[in-house]
Amino acid sequence: MKVLLTGANGYIGRRLKKHFIAQNIDLRLLVRNPKTIDNYSQKNIDVIKGDTFDIDSLEYALEGVDVAYYLIHSLESENYKELDRQSAKNFLDTAIKQHVKRIIYLGGLGVKESASAHLLSRIETGEILSSRPEDIQTIWIRAGVIIGSGSTSFEIIRHLIEKLPIMVTPKWVNTLAQPIAVDDVIDYLNYSKDLDHQKNLIVDIGSQKMTYKEMMLEASEALGLHRWIFPLPILTIKLSSYWLNLFTPVPYNVAKSLIEGLSSEVVIQNNNAKKYYPQIKPKSFKDSVKSAIRQMEENQVISRWSDAGGGHGHLEENHINEFAKSVLMDRQKLSIAGISPDIVYKTFCSIGGKHGWFRYSWLWEIRGFIDKLLGGAGLNRGRRDNSVLRVGDSVDFWRVEDLVVNERLLLYAQMKVPGKAWLEFLIKDGKLVQTAYFLPRGIWGRLYWYTMMPIHFFIFRDMVHTIIEKSRK
Ligand SMILES: NC(=O)c1ccc[n+]([C@@H]2O[C@H](COP(=O)([O-])OP(=O)(O)OC[C@H]3O[C@@H](n4cnc5c(N)ncnc54)[C@H](OP(=O)(O)O)[C@@H]3O)[C@@H](O)[C@H]2O)c1
Repeated sequence: MKVLLTGANGYIGRRLKKHFIAQNIDLRLLVRNPKTIDNYSQKNIDVIKGDTFDIDSLEYALEGVDVAYYLIHSLESENYKELDRQSAKNFLDTAIKQHVKRIIYLGGLGVKESASAHLLSRIETGEILSSRPEDIQTIWIRAGVIIGSGSTSFEIIRHLIEKLPIMVTPKWVNTLAQPIAVDDVIDYLNYSKDLDHQKNLIVDIGSQKMTYKEMMLEASEALGLHRWIFPLPILTIKLSSYWLNLFTPVPYNVAKSLIEGLSSEVVIQNNNAKKYYPQIKPKSFKDSVKSAIRQMEENQVISRWSDAGGGHGHLEENHINEFAKSVLMDRQKLSIAGISPDIVYKTFCSIGGKHGWFRYSWLWEIRGFIDKLLGGAGLNRGRRDNSVLRVGDSVDFWRVEDLVVNERLLLYAQMKVPGKAWLEFLIKDGKLVQTAYFLPRGIWGRLYWYTMMPIHFFIFRDMVHTIIEKSRK
């Protein structure tokens, strides 16, 4: 069986990919930027650079495929409804043309009547993919709140309960949902390729029914904390979104779309999970939280919502070279004589997260807080792994744009800033060259850069010195 996996860099896709590689599945990936696929995977699987809007690449990717996974959405774009529609249509038409036998799609749980705009688009995608049952079979799995290390829902719940002993929340915390562990989602997706069933199927998945308030209280217990939650009917969507933005890693726009979805119940509408997948016994909510915490503690987080593809604008290959157009920069060079380049590389790759920013971490904290106030992600996202980085990983309010082992790390700023900014660490000619690039947007961009210059002077100069000092130890 030849399997095509799309969205292989996404939160779900990365985990499914790992599963397939372990099973030695004949696997092909369709990705927009092959650099985001690690070397090991590149060697063992067929990686095709493409996009669902590029029909030639789709035709190539779907050729000879038996089962095609559709784990794609366009929520990062303003016109996501049209893009989602077109993307699903292109995928369906091309899959039929290439004689694919089965499409497997993971969408959201919920009913059309009360769905948020985002969920409606997910439902529409499922309807399009399922619209030609005479030509191709579609298995449409629908999940609500997914709990796993690095999942949006888990990260929000964790940050809220870790930071706020007493919470005054909107009344929607009493809405019913049916959460599910990410490992169970992966099991449903995995078993779907082998399912002995020929017709279209909609499979709603979830464990026990519970309110968001119950989820937060159970998660507190799993974390060994006591929390008090008081729902208040007066909190508006806007206010709640600011609140979520300030106390959790999600930026304002993500918080707002999540809060909009909280008012409607997301519970399963059919019994197909039990009927067709009796071997899967979904974990309880508390066990999924415990398993997510364990993965975090063991530094075994496979994917996070904020990594490449995870709602923060995708990593275009040509974007990597855009920094060369920067008109403003701060460059620091220091000799690495007597230190092996791999040590220097490891040191600068440990940047951010719980290690901080080498020097003046408090200044970075203030910058992170300002970013939060402006609706950005702030520093709360941290990093997936304390020592290893992958292209596409988020590091606080930066994203890894390029990595060349023992040579280079290029970070792209995802903070709210009037322009585009990059931070590069490069080992060249026996020196560590650290460059902050800035492509200002209009007069405000320039004003920002010049206002920040005195702060940058200390931060960047001391940063390069500290990296060398740390590397010598
Ligand atoms: N995560 C959840 O909590 C959750 C809950 C319920 C349902 N779901 C559903 O699960 C599915 C996967 O979600 P996710 O959370 O894994 O998403 P995600 O982390 O945001 O990743 C989305 C993936 O889609 C790829 N992509 C987007 N547009 C594309 C295009 N036009 N052509 C090719 N690739 C494209 C992205 O590629 P790049 O890497 O190139 O950006 C990325 O890998 C979605 O249908 C979602 O509705 C997710």
